[in-house]
Amino acid sequence: MTGPREALRSYVQFLHEHEDVRHVRLSRTAKEGLARLTAKSKPQPVAPPPTVAAPRTSPPVATTIARSSMATAPAVVPAAPLEITGSTKAEQLRHLAERAAACVKCPHLVARRHTVVFGVGNPEAKLMFVGEAPGEEEDLQGEPFVGRAGQLLTKMIVAMGLTREQVYIGNIVKCRPDMPLGTSGNRKPTKQEMETCVPYLRAQIEVIKPLVLVALGATAIEGLLGPIGSIGSLRGKFHEFRGVPLMPTFHPSYLLRNQSNTEKRKVWEDLLKVMERLEMPVSEKQRGFFLAK
Ligand code: URA
Repeated sequence: MTGPREALRSYVQFLHEHEDVRHVRLSRTAKEGLARLTAKSKPQPVAPPPTVAAPRTSPPVATTIARSSMATAPAVVPAAPLEITGSTKAEQLRHLAERAAACVKCPHLVARRHTVVFGVGNPEAKLMFVGEAPGEEEDLQGEPFVGRAGQLLTKMIVAMGLTREQVYIGNIVKCRPDMPLGTSGNRKPTKQEMETCVPYLRAQIEVIKPLVLVALGATAIEGLLGPIGSIGSLRGKFHEFRGVPLMPTFHPSYLLRNQSNTEKRKVWEDLLKVMERLEMPVSEKQRGFFLAK
C-alpha cells in the first residue's frame, strides 16, 4: 500500500526522470499537511480510474488517458483531427475554443485548471507563435504568454515592429500542466498530454493559415514536428509544418535564465529571418540589436 510520502516521492522521481523538472520545492503548509497525512494514513482501497466517455468522432484516446497515471509513462495514442465548423476564421476559432473549454480528456489537468488557455490574437495573422503550455499566470488569466516569459515575448514582437494584436499566440497544450499540491513552478507537459491536446493547435493553424510559424522552445518543436533534434541544432533554419515555414527558436524563459547578448542575438537573428520571410521592412537599427558596439 502506498502512503502519501511514497506517492509524492514517486511523483517527484517521475518529474525528474521524464519531465526534466530538476527542483521541486514544498511549501511549509504542504510539508505540514504531508506530515499530518502520513501520521493518519491507513491502507485505503484502490479507487477505480475515472472513466470519460470518448467523443463520437475520436479514437479511444480518452479511455487511455483516463487510465493513465501521472506516475507511469503512458503509451502515446495519436489523437484524431478536429472538425472545423463555421464560416469565418473568427467563428471557426470560436467553435474550437468552445470545444477546448469543454474538453475533459486529461482528467488530472481538468481537476486543477482555472481556465483553458486556447490562444489569443488575430485570426488573420500572418505570423503565429507557438509555445509549450500555460503557466500559473496564464492559467489564472486565460491568455497565453502573460507571465514573465510572456512579457519578454511581447517585447520581442514589438521589436519586430508588430503588436500582440497583429499576430496569433497559442500553445501545444491548452491546460496548465499540474504540479504536486503545495509546490510552485511549472512542468513540461508529458508526451501523452501533448498528443492529446495538439489537435487543437493543428486546427488553429489550419484555420489561421499563417505565412510563418515560430516555435518557441523544444516542446513546441516536438509537438509540431516530433522529436527531430535539439533546439540548439534546429534553430536558425526554416523547417516546415504542413507546408507552412516554421522557424524554431529559444523559448523566452530560456532568455530569462540566460540574459547574455549572445543568446538574445541568436533569437533576434531567428526573428530577423522571419521578418525577411514575411517581407517586412527591417531598419538598420533593428539589424543591429544585441550586437556588440
Ligand atoms: N510559456 C509557454 O510556453 N506558454 C505560455 O503560455 C506561457 C509560458
